[in-house]
Amino acid sequence: MKKKLIAGNWKMNGSLAANDALLAALRAGLAAQAPGCDVAVAVPAPYLAQVQALVADTAIALAAQDVSQHEAGAYTGEASAAMLRDFGVRYTLVGHSERRQYHGESDAAVAAKAQRALAAGITPIVCVGETLAEREAGQTEAVVKRQLAAVIAQVGHCVSEIVVAYEPVWAIGTGKTATPAQAQAVHAVLRAQLAAASAQAANMRLLYGGSMNAANAAELLAQPDIDGGLIGGAALKAPDFLTIIAAAA
Ligand code: 13P
Repeated sequence: MKKKLIAGNWKMNGSLAANDALLAALRAGLAAQAPGCDVAVAVPAPYLAQVQALVADTAIALAAQDVSQHEAGAYTGEASAAMLRDFGVRYTLVGHSERRQYHGESDAAVAAKAQRALAAGITPIVCVGETLAEREAGQTEAVVKRQLAAVIAQVGHCVSEIVVAYEPVWAIGTGKTATPAQAQAVHAVLRAQLAAASAQAANMRLLYGGSMNAANAAELLAQPDIDGGLIGGAALKAPDFLTIIAAAA
């Protein structure tokens, strides 16, 4: 059976000291009880080396928050998939709504990033999700399908290697979680879309993200098409993140 995946997205938070304390607490928690799911933390790029060392020999995998769509060269400020690989990165987020919104990332750019990650042996966690206005206009399905279709078209038969994260933009950092039924409905749509592209769709992992926390994780993770979580705020608090990990076992 596929294991669930619980990934923390630290976003632009942390410091050498804070990361050290958070990972010490996570390591202690996971040493006491080995996780029954896969666990990853997506950290800011400057801390990849620090966190690589801190998660070595633990059940925690290292993830990046973004990757360049280019292979190498004159792209100031970017980090390539090969560079991430050098630091032991196993997963990278691509197309997080904050990148789409504040950095103008198009569906095509997100698809190119997913492809670069795969080519370097890194699993892309492809984020999709609608805004509140899109939901209210009845466009949720169309939006997430358009976002995912771009990636499917780009990566072809490698689609079974990706992870998909459904993150409704209106639920991110707002404390407003999609209900388990709302999340499940969109996950079912995404699963069907993946099934049309890959015979492996049933084995692929579809994460939910958006105000997932210690109190609501179990109910969300119990949905048939929710195979894990992408956690922002609650991933910065070790007890909360450990509770979510336990809920995914
Ligand atoms: P919050 O859990 O803080 O709502 O963030 C979700 C998210 O964007 C994870 O990528």
